Amino acid sequence: MMKKVSFKAMEYGTQADYDLLFAEEAPENGIAERTLGWLKEMDEPSPYHITRLGHSLQAATRAERDGADNETIACALLHDIGDIIAPANHSEVAAALLAPYVSKRNHWIIKHHGIFQGYYWFQFIGGDRNAREKYCDHEYYEACVEFCARWDQTSFDPDYNTLPLEHFEPLVRELFSRDPAPFF
Ligand SMILES: [Fe+2]
Ligand SMILES: [Fe+2]
Repeated sequence: MMKKVSFKAMEYGTQADYDLLFAEEAPENGIAERTLGWLKEMDEPSPYHITRLGHSLQAATRAERDGADNETIACALLHDIGDIIAPANHSEVAAALLAPYVSKRNHWIIKHHGIFQGYYWFQFIGGDRNAREKYCDHEYYEACVEFCARWDQTSFDPDYNTLPLEHFEPLVRELFSRDPAPFF
């Protein structure tokens, strides 16, 4: 039977309780498998020519073929992972999931890719396609423009030779096996 903490309200927690909890919650806690499961749920028909899973795989494939490092390829794969529960702010959800495991640069790109990607479509819904210009002096501005131009906005093509999810699974597992950055 699984060992339990001594408390039923957090105000009574002890060091021994938190030693137990952190031993239970340490690394191989299934985040990678859950995230991969989440990606698979994105394989639903849509008005695009490919599914959202197909889009994610294609973005990652393009990143790999452009010579991106493994972390960046994994970020390309997971950049839209928030879409399934938070379509209105999916960039922030994906960025929050990845934040403890990726570089500041990759985190910033994922967090802002939605507004940068808007360059291609905000004008069709009465918005400002140049909304991203407010970040024009930011050190990662160009990198985010590139991310969208090369890998995101291009990846809706059913005829592109996209690699399967199995190809990228080791990258996702490696990413989430890293020691997460502390959140305090
Ligand atoms: Fe997106
Ligand atoms: Fe996307």
